[in-house]
Amino acid sequence: MTHSPATDILLQVALRAEAQPIIDGEALRPIGPVVAHCPAQAFANSVANRSVVLITHGSDPLHKCDRIGPIAAATTCAAAIARFHPRLIVNIGTCGGFQSRGGAIGDLHLAQRLAFHDQRVPIAGFREFARGETDAPHSDALRAELGALGGLCSTGGSLDATPQDRAILDELEARCKDMEAAAIALVARDWQVPLLVLKCVTDLVDNPEAVQDAFLRNLRHATMQLASATAALLRSNNLPW
Ligand code: ADE
Repeated sequence: MTHSPATDILLQVALRAEAQPIIDGEALRPIGPVVAHCPAQAFANSVANRSVVLITHGSDPLHKCDRIGPIAAATTCAAAIARFHPRLIVNIGTCGGFQSRGGAIGDLHLAQRLAFHDQRVPIAGFREFARGETDAPHSDALRAELGALGGLCSTGGSLDATPQDRAILDELEARCKDMEAAAIALVARDWQVPLLVLKCVTDLVDNPEAVQDAFLRNLRHATMQLASATAALLRSNNLPW
């Protein structure tokens, strides 16, 4: 059996719209699906002498929309690790923020902790497993270099948040709410690959405006911010390896 060489950095980005400014900025070339006949797509180039592969989750063949959410995040991550053998995974994307904890549209976060706010199993032992709290270790120097805030990013399968989700997000003191990071962390931990989670706020979970309106209005600006932070990260001397 032949093994493909290790990739230095795997960038995992759910939405094509989030990925495009990074693909353009780093001149990443399409190299086809991550796995033959599956939707997730891969793009590659060498950046500052580092081999970089970016994967998107691809488009759902039935509903013709990008495959956001924790299920595609986990399956895509596992397939990409098996194929590309990355030394580091970086999950990049947009997130909700919390004005009650000082958050604002456009804030960048390099998450220090991850969890799930919509997985609840009130049975001893399973409670903590379902909550999935885990660290995303990196240096303060890297966070400062990217101009990012820290804190906890909590993952769930929904763009909106129910009152029970909101109560758990407050209990966790979440600074970001996304739909992928904690699922990717489970896979990265199994495969023992370090993970960074870089997010930019498009909407505020605790603001009365409908999340989808703020998300769509701020998506372009957030993706440009993510692309410039990613450019700095790819060239950084402060990576956790
Ligand atoms: N991505 C952008 N905004 C989000 C939110 N409020 N919840 C989950 N994922 C998001």
